[in-house]
Amino acid sequence: MTETSQFRNDAEILGRSDLNDLEAIMEVSNTDTTELLHSVADNANAIFTWDYEKGARPALNKLYEKAKTSQWNGETDLDWSIEVDPTRILSAMQDGQAAAGPLASVATAPGSPFANFGEKEWEQLGLESINWRLSQFMHGEQGALLCTAKIVETVPWIDAKYYAATQVVDEARHVEVFAKYLDTKLTGYYPINSHLKMLLDDIITDSRWDMTYLGMQIMVEGLALAAFGFMHSMTEEPLLKKLLRYVMSDEARHVAFGVLSLKEYYAELSDAELRERQEFAFEAAVRMRDRFLQQEVWDRMGVDKKKVMKMLLELPPEEQVFQQMLFSKIVPNCKKLGLLDASGGWLRKRFEEIGVIQFEDWADTTEEFLTFDAVTTDRAAAGA
Ligand SMILES: [Fe+2]
Ligand SMILES: [Fe+2]
Repeated sequence: MTETSQFRNDAEILGRSDLNDLEAIMEVSNTDTTELLHSVADNANAIFTWDYEKGARPALNKLYEKAKTSQWNGETDLDWSIEVDPTRILSAMQDGQAAAGPLASVATAPGSPFANFGEKEWEQLGLESINWRLSQFMHGEQGALLCTAKIVETVPWIDAKYYAATQVVDEARHVEVFAKYLDTKLTGYYPINSHLKMLLDDIITDSRWDMTYLGMQIMVEGLALAAFGFMHSMTEEPLLKKLLRYVMSDEARHVAFGVLSLKEYYAELSDAELRERQEFAFEAAVRMRDRFLQQEVWDRMGVDKKKVMKMLLELPPEEQVFQQMLFSKIVPNCKKLGLLDASGGWLRKRFEEIGVIQFEDWADTTEEFLTFDAVTTDRAAAGA
């Protein structure tokens, strides 16, 4: 069989044949922003196992034990009495100008849609951006909550069911704290971005248990871990800073859970089966890149969204550091799972195309949870 008949092409994977087809990207937009409930068929059997041997998978058992002692309480471990000035959360704006990130060069380019922005507009954009980002994090956290509940049911190993159960609690706490921050410190939510929604729907819909892990633990949470880290280093707002630090220490375990579980399972898969996983990873990567074009923010700010998104997509690689950094956890983890080089290096080539392959030899995330443990560190410092 030839490659083209056996495997899906980009039109089938992404719904468009050109990766950078801006019209197609913009067409994926959220038209029903009043929707309150959204239902997705999860297509999976719940699996009982009668093999109760705890610790048959020592690495998963260690992670489970760690999770039990690293729990925190969003109501009491964070100081919600801190007053937040939303305009000062991210120092993205300085002296009325875009200070950092991909917008800095777009803002000063000839014909920039931001040419007539003054201090007031930059401040408003800063507010909308933080609101949009935290809203998408919150929606993503709910995706993680649902996915992990599904993993409890579908994964066949008892150690993994135990661990996933702790992750369900973690994710509930994450949704809770992001929602509370948006509610009480900012000005409400943005609806879910449609690229993110499409991805979460695809992850939930897939009947194969390992695809939930790949989509959520490796791709969505891998990106979240990098994005939280970036935001944590950028903000001086003490409440958000601590919230992110605590969420990140949970997320580091979650990503490790994905890598440890899939490493064992992928060792048994054929090249053709791995290729399906590669395609899924690529689809997820592109959906997340499209999501970060934050089209809803441009709509709300009344700037020419097509122009901004085009400029963002066409930035030279050296100015795409922020977008690329989002993949700094995903790529080494995919490498560790053997996904870069299976099937003739298909995913490696695709990651080259979207400009993120340079992270392949960065540290993977299997041990990071040991150094990221904010809860234990803080308790030790408090002498508890
Ligand atoms: Fe989370
Ligand atoms: Fe997570």
